[in-house]
Amino acid sequence: GTFTVRAPASSANLGPGFDSLGLSVPLYTTLRVTPQATTEIVPLGAELEGTPADESNYVYRAMGLAARRAGRPLPPARIEIETDVPLARGLGSSAAALVAGIVAGNELLGRPLDDLAVLDVAAREEGHPDNVAPALFGGIVVATLDKLGTHYVRLDPPANLGVTVLIPDFELSTSKARAVLPKEYSRADAVHALSHAALLAAALSQGRLDLLRHAMQDYIHQIWRAPLVPGLSDILEEAWKHGALGAALSGAGPTVLCFHDTREPTAPLHAYLNGVMARNGLEGRVLDFPI
Ligand code: HSE
Repeated sequence: GTFTVRAPASSANLGPGFDSLGLSVPLYTTLRVTPQATTEIVPLGAELEGTPADESNYVYRAMGLAARRAGRPLPPARIEIETDVPLARGLGSSAAALVAGIVAGNELLGRPLDDLAVLDVAAREEGHPDNVAPALFGGIVVATLDKLGTHYVRLDPPANLGVTVLIPDFELSTSKARAVLPKEYSRADAVHALSHAALLAAALSQGRLDLLRHAMQDYIHQIWRAPLVPGLSDILEEAWKHGALGAALSGAGPTVLCFHDTREPTAPLHAYLNGVMARNGLEGRVLDFPI
């Protein structure tokens, strides 16, 4: 019969955890799948206007990846697709579509793939696991992808940790935001990145909210992407003065993520972030989420 699959949005990198660290954000891509004699792809809602309703649809192709890994043909079905995840904003919309599609394809096939195989298919397709891992498992996930496979650890989010996201009204493609990155880094930059990413993962796993601001420093991608996101440098430097526990570009941007303590009011942080947008002539939304 009919079944439903949903996968959350996600925020990748968290500063120095480039291509390896991410957390889920409670906005969802939802599929309603009904096995039937023919394939029917039905994108619904304003966010998916213009999305293909044929076999080139990204969710449908993701379902096909599950079938290919399982070595079996995908059974036909009616596939309704809905999403609350804003597209091309650094909130993992493609990872949510990919994970939802692979999980739905796996379900249609009678679940030949285990979770790690689903993760591996998704991570290889995206080229990095930092959005697909939290989209599949929820919470905070540390993940690696290499020739030998995909490995991950899911962390329970620390108590009292919430996120505030500034979602600008403009789109930024991941490929454009990756094209501005250097091909090579110095050993000093590599050591800075790995030590801060390791400290950040440890701090998140131990609930050391006091270390987040320091641990989230990054010289691997944010400085290169700052020209693409007006106001980003200011937020990275100053958000802590307005109640943020740490700040980072969300994935490839343009969304910016701040951590906050859920026991404290976030109104000052909202006022600050809205002020940064106004000074830079940007429109957008500032939203709080639990994690
Ligand atoms: N780690 C990726 C990046 C996430 O920053 O380019 C975006 O897909």
